[in-house]
Amino acid sequence: MSALSDHIAQQGARYLMPNYRRFPLVITRGAGSWVWDADGKKYLDLFPGWGVAGLGHCHPAVAAAIARQAQKLLHCANNYYTEEQIEFAELLSTRADGQQIFFCNSGAEAAEGAIKLARLSSDGRYGVISFYGAFHGRTFAAISATGQPAYRRGFEPTVPGFAHAEYNNLASVEALIDDRTCAIMVEPVQGESGVIAATPEFLRGLRKLCDEKNLRLIFDEVQTTPARLGTWFGYQHFGVKPDIMTSAKAIAGGMPLGIFMADASVAQFLKPGTHASTFGGNSIGCAAGVAAIKVIEQENLLANIQKLGKLLDERINALRQKTAKIKDYRRVGFMVAVELNVEGAPIAAKCAANGVLINCTHDTVLRMLPAFNTSADEFDFGLTVLEQSLELKG
Ligand SMILES: Cc1ncc(COP(=O)(O)O)c(C=O)c1O
Repeated sequence: MSALSDHIAQQGARYLMPNYRRFPLVITRGAGSWVWDADGKKYLDLFPGWGVAGLGHCHPAVAAAIARQAQKLLHCANNYYTEEQIEFAELLSTRADGQQIFFCNSGAEAAEGAIKLARLSSDGRYGVISFYGAFHGRTFAAISATGQPAYRRGFEPTVPGFAHAEYNNLASVEALIDDRTCAIMVEPVQGESGVIAATPEFLRGLRKLCDEKNLRLIFDEVQTTPARLGTWFGYQHFGVKPDIMTSAKAIAGGMPLGIFMADASVAQFLKPGTHASTFGGNSIGCAAGVAAIKVIEQENLLANIQKLGKLLDERINALRQKTAKIKDYRRVGFMVAVELNVEGAPIAAKCAANGVLINCTHDTVLRMLPAFNTSADEFDFGLTVLEQSLELKG
C-alpha cells in the first residue's frame, strides 16, 4: 500500500463507523469490469459493487443519462409526476407482466414495503414465513425475515410475526402456516448464503400453497434482477410468478434505487397515506434506470449471460477436476459460487493481490456477481488468476 492509500485508510478508520470489514484498497475509478486503486493498479472486478454495477462501472450510456438529467431535474416530490419516473416504471412493468411499481432506495426498504403490502392486503393477518439461510437486508422487518440469527444478534426484540422454514422443504413451510399467516417470502436464489437455488418444484409448491391458503407469495429479487439469471426477472427463469416482488442492486445501472412490484389487484391496497418515500423514484435514479434497461436490450446482455454462463461451467468444472480444494460449484445465470474445503478469505486476498476482486461469504464460499457485459477474455483472465491463487498453476 502506498503512503496515499495508507493515509486514506487511516482517515477512514478515524472518521467512519467501524461496521465494515474493509480490504486495504482505495478504489478511485472504474470502467466496465475494471477498477483502479489510488496507486494506479488495475483490477478485474468480478463482484462489482456487490452486484450493483450490473453494466460494469460507469457505463457510458448510464453516465450520459445521469449527466443529462442532472442539468434538468435532480429530484421531484412524489405528489407530482415526472417523465423519467413514468418511463422507467413502464419499461419495468412491460417486462414484468404488467405489474405496478413502488420506488424506494434500497433492497431492505423494498423488503419492508413488500411486507407492509402483504399485511395490508390480508384482512388483519400478519404472519410471514421466510427461510433459514435467507438474507433480506438490515432494517428491522428485514432482519426479522432474514433466516440467520447472526444478523439479529444484539437487536432483539425484532418484529413479531416472523417464522422460518427450511429452504426447499415444502412440508416445513406447511407446518408453520396458521390462521395468522399472510405471506411467504423467499429468495429464488439465496445469494448471500452462497448461491443456493430454490428448485422449480419448491417454488411451484409455494405458489400452490399461497393460492390454496390465500397468502401472498413474495420473491426477494434484490440480487436476481434485472437480467442476472439471463431473464429480466428471476421469476421468469423459474416460471413461477410471485404476488409481490422486490428488486434493487443493479436495477438502476448503479444508482441507489429499490422497487417492489405487484399486480394491480394487490397493489390497490397501497392507498394514499399507507406508504411513501421522499427520495423514492428520484429523477437521476430513474433516468439511469431507463438507460440501463435500454443497454441490457441493445447490447443483448440476457443472451451474453446465458452464453458465457456455460463458459464459466466449463472452466470451473475443469478446475474442480484438478483439486480437492473445490468442494462445490454453483451457478445460476451470473450468480456464481465456488465453495472450498479451505478458508476462502486468504484466496480472495490472493486474487486481489493478483488483480482480481471476488467476494468470500460464509467463510468458504468464493462468490462472483459479474457485470452482465463481462467478456469471455475477462472471465478467462479472472479464472486464470483464481487458478493461480488456489495454487493450482504456477
Ligand atoms: C436478497 C437481498 N435482499 C435484500 C438485500 C438488502 O439490500 P440493501 O443492502 O440494498 O438494503 C440484499 C443485499 O445484499 C440481498 O442480497
